[in-house]
Amino acid sequence: MDRFFFNTDVNTDKKNMLLDQDNIPSHIAIIMDGNGRWAKQKGLPRVAGHREGMKTITNVVEKANDIGIQFLTLYAFSTENWKRPKTEVDFLMKLPERFLDKELPALQKNNVKVKTIGDPSLLPPHTKQAVDKAVRETENNSGLVLNFALNYGGRHELVEAVRKLGREVEHGHLKPEDITESLFSDRLLTSEIPDPDLLIRTSGEIRLSNFMLWQLAYSEFWFTEVLWPDFNGGHLVEAVQRYQQRKRRYGGV
Ligand code: FPP
Repeated sequence: MDRFFFNTDVNTDKKNMLLDQDNIPSHIAIIMDGNGRWAKQKGLPRVAGHREGMKTITNVVEKANDIGIQFLTLYAFSTENWKRPKTEVDFLMKLPERFLDKELPALQKNNVKVKTIGDPSLLPPHTKQAVDKAVRETENNSGLVLNFALNYGGRHELVEAVRKLGREVEHGHLKPEDITESLFSDRLLTSEIPDPDLLIRTSGEIRLSNFMLWQLAYSEFWFTEVLWPDFNGGHLVEAVQRYQQRKRRYGGV
């Protein structure tokens, strides 16, 4: 077995009872991958995989809430995903509104706060409106923060932060020597949320694909071969268990 992967044999929801309640990751980030392959395996069009993947989000949010995760960031659409066929992009752009039309009442009930990171300027108006509405209507909730990365790219985010700082220096509000790691973090799209403690990527790919390049510097990574539409709450608990077995050293000993 490849050392990056672990057996994902457990589906039971009772597993979260085994979690150490004093060491629950505050922020989990997920690269939801494998929708296309899931559909292909079943002889279905790729978009069927995305539709099924949307259902997985509902289960995972529920379980994350249950476990006591405070922030859940989901990579829903990258700055590179525009290269996909137009029909697939159009379908993906409809998913946030489909998801939110259906799930917003439950998210409200569970005190979930919806947020997004990414460049909204290229999103179609219908996508942006649905997301903005959910963000607005949940802004006073104090439970799990459900953060959708939509038209998000890590490099784009870093370049934008550098531009912001450049302008501040240009206008004399800041000196180059004032720029610290903490000040830089404050110029990122995640300025209001802590860095992820745990990154999960499904479908057997072991790469970051331009996701949260700065924020993942000290995160623990957990990869599974399970395709995103097959991922469930039991897998999330398993990832957290693995996280709890690790010793985070942040460069120390
Ligand atoms: C990667 O699988 C998945 C995506 C690019 C899209 C992820 C989107 C969802 C799971 C649904 C989004 C829903 C909301 C509510 C925002 P892939 O298509 O690259 O799969 P493949 O590698 O097997 O082809």
